[in-house]
Amino acid sequence: MKVVENTIPDLAQLLNLYRTVGWLKSNDNIDFLKEVLLNSDEFICIYVGTTLVAFGRMLTDYHMSAFLDDIVVHPNFRRMGLGTEVVKHLISKVPHVKKVKLTTYYASEFYKKLKFQKPSCTPMELIVNI
Ligand SMILES: CC(C)(COP(=O)(O)OP(=O)(O)OC[C@H]1O[C@@H](n2cnc3c(N)ncnc32)[C@H](O)[C@@H]1OP(=O)(O)O)[C@@H](O)C(=O)NCCC(=O)NCCS
Repeated sequence: MKVVENTIPDLAQLLNLYRTVGWLKSNDNIDFLKEVLLNSDEFICIYVGTTLVAFGRMLTDYHMSAFLDDIVVHPNFRRMGLGTEVVKHLISKVPHVKKVKLTTYYASEFYKKLKFQKPSCTPMELIVNI
């Protein structure tokens, strides 16, 4: 297993990883993903051999808050600790922030195990492009 920080991976592999969880629209492509990565503050890839098996990224000001996004482990490599490794590695890059935030639909149990809790506030979003 190899952990690689902030280095653009083989984008075809990353595209496939995103597609395993249905996060991309049909017209989102490699160029789109590249821009997403280049404009993220931190991202991490985990490889087994040359296969990209886990990914996560973070937007942060390094002082007040950090937002985790797109934490994903390939279905064939889940429940082996890789998701935990991705989250802990990203959080280790922001030792001074007051809050690390994220949203999740289906992975609350995973994040609870990492000491995340349901916020007392109500998350809101504005969808500007569909
Ligand atoms: C959520 C996800 C990243 C977890 O990755 P993972 O590598 O399987 O997680 P870990 O092996 O580090 O799991 C650590 C612990 O979290 C909990 N956990 C993980 N997946 C879980 C699940 N599906 N249901 C309940 N608990 C879960 C377990 O307690 C697990 O420990 P255990 O295996 O000893 O019981 C992975 O399932 C995934 O990619 N899901 C689809 C994408 C997604 O929903 N991402 C999060 C939203 S941003």
